[in-house]
Amino acid sequence: MKLLFIGDVVGSPGREMIDEYLPKLKQKFQPTVTIVNGENAAAGKGITEKIYRRFLEKGAQAVTLGNHAWDKREIFDFIDEAEYMVRPANFPEDTPGKGLTFVKTPKAEVAVINLQGRTFLTPNDDPFRKVDELIETAKKRTPIIFLDFHAEATSEKQAMGWYVDGRVSVNVGTHTHVQTADERILPNGTAYVTDVGMTGPYDGILGMEREAVIKRFLTNLPVRFEVPKSGRTQLSGVVVDVDPQTGKATNIKRIQINDDHPFFS
Ligand SMILES: [Fe+2]
Ligand SMILES: [Fe+2]
Repeated sequence: MKLLFIGDVVGSPGREMIDEYLPKLKQKFQPTVTIVNGENAAAGKGITEKIYRRFLEKGAQAVTLGNHAWDKREIFDFIDEAEYMVRPANFPEDTPGKGLTFVKTPKAEVAVINLQGRTFLTPNDDPFRKVDELIETAKKRTPIIFLDFHAEATSEKQAMGWYVDGRVSVNVGTHTHVQTADERILPNGTAYVTDVGMTGPYDGILGMEREAVIKRFLTNLPVRFEVPKSGRTQLSGVVVDVDPQTGKATNIKRIQINDDHPFFS
């Protein structure tokens, strides 16, 4: 079976890439389960119920989040009913939402976990101890476990990859918005990539208007970061082959769609 994952969808340019390319990618790879990171989907920060539903309509079966989970206030009105949306599981206890969900298909059941790193990010609960707990819970239902580890430091992301090797099927990294070329199957059968990259503006800086970001670097003045309304766009993802019996990954392929890397020609 195949799992398709699309990295951080940023604003309307990202959502339009999902509308255009998710059906094509699903047609090409026939994934059993498709997962999208939606933490930046609403104007670059957070997610709304409408966008969550649109991702499901376009063919995703689960949506992961990250440090921007709470940026749109309305999330508190729907997160507890959004069965297929996960926010980092190591957020403080009693935080709304959940960090583990299950997607059941006729072919297989997939556990979907979201965790957040602590290096250069809010110091949440320990994601390493938390992942042990979640793997134990997930294994009672299925050997196929997908982990989106939303973290800043490449060291913390690699540490997580090695820590969960052989215990989860897929461990992708998100948050830094730049795709890394280190995809591999770790020795015990976990598909790993440090960062999947983002989906949305191609000529911005991490998906935001570059003029504002450059101004911030030049002046240290407070500036408003916004998603560019027009311009070239990109999509970043991975597709992973998983043995449904053992939950071990056998292949991981990076997907990059942009003007420099045309994917469908
Ligand atoms: Fe992000
Ligand atoms: Fe993030």
